[in-house]
Amino acid sequence: MRGAVSAHFSTLVRKFSRFTGKCLAIAPHLGFPVRGGADKCAEMTDRPTEIVKFDNVGLRYGTDPEVLSDLSFTLFPGSFYFLTGASGAGKTSLLKLLYLAQRPSRGSIRMFGKDMITSPRTRLPDFRRRLGVVFQNFRLVPHLSAFDNVALPLRLSGTDEAKVLKAVSDMLEWVGLSHRAQAIPETLSGGEQQRVAIARAVIARPQILIADEPTGNVDPDMALKLLRLFEALNNRVGTTVIVATHDVHLLKKVPDSLIMRLQKGRLSDPTGALRYPPQPSAAKASAKAPISKKGGV
Ligand SMILES: Nc1ncnc2c1ncn2[C@@H]1O[C@H](COP(=O)(O)OP(=O)(O)OP(=O)(O)O)[C@@H](O)[C@H]1O
Ligand SMILES: [Mg+2]
Repeated sequence: MRGAVSAHFSTLVRKFSRFTGKCLAIAPHLGFPVRGGADKCAEMTDRPTEIVKFDNVGLRYGTDPEVLSDLSFTLFPGSFYFLTGASGAGKTSLLKLLYLAQRPSRGSIRMFGKDMITSPRTRLPDFRRRLGVVFQNFRLVPHLSAFDNVALPLRLSGTDEAKVLKAVSDMLEWVGLSHRAQAIPETLSGGEQQRVAIARAVIARPQILIADEPTGNVDPDMALKLLRLFEALNNRVGTTVIVATHDVHLLKKVPDSLIMRLQKGRLSDPTGALRYPPQPSAAKASAKAPISKKGGV
């Protein structure tokens, strides 16, 4: 009898996790699902409890000193992460490791339950297709229109053209660019290019969305709207989201998110327990700009 109940419970958890895409476990004594419960998830579902696992990862460019050191952390499926840190702290470098554009100099990286260091290079395109990436410098295809840039991931995955038309039109409308659908990137403003880049990253509902300063070029209202797009992907599709940002206001807009903070290439809080990053110190804020009154810079 106990076995039958346990099996039924296990099926329920599995169904629930598949439905939400989140790593959830049901607390029997509470009678409702709770976030986390990773061990329970591992035990009772066939989904991996982690989608990304870094172990003692370091990165150096050429023979320069390490720009990332001793990174050990786990990202759980269906969670929402912000990555913060000063300019030059290593946010883009960390994201490059995540979107498989860069190999670490040391340590191990597992994604989707596979070792990314030892996986053959021929497997990488398959892993990359599961990622949606918003690059800090957008990287739109210059000779393609806004529409065709956004359509790219769907067309690469062989989606029916009628579905592409509907999905891309809806997405362009959401990001406020229906009227610029046929424009090529060089004729778009920085903020418009950024919105195209975001639309392209989310259109195919990736398993992991990696966004590098995705709202750096848009006004606060549009930043919030784009953040809602990420949240919808996270909540409805179960996409794991990681957003690098300087914008401390943005962090407060996603109450369920976890915050990772890089300081000179090291994670100051790998667990995400630090909910809000420290404010800039008064001394730094009031420091004088190196501009002389008489001429010069
Ligand atoms: N290709 C490269 N070759 C050499 N050094 C690099 C390279 N890319 C980045 N760096 C160095 O690595 C460090 C981390 O850079 P990174 O771009 O990851 O920082 P960041 O936190 O994203 O900064 P920002 O907020 O300004 O975008 C910096 O000191 C940078 O100069
Ligand atoms: Mg950067």
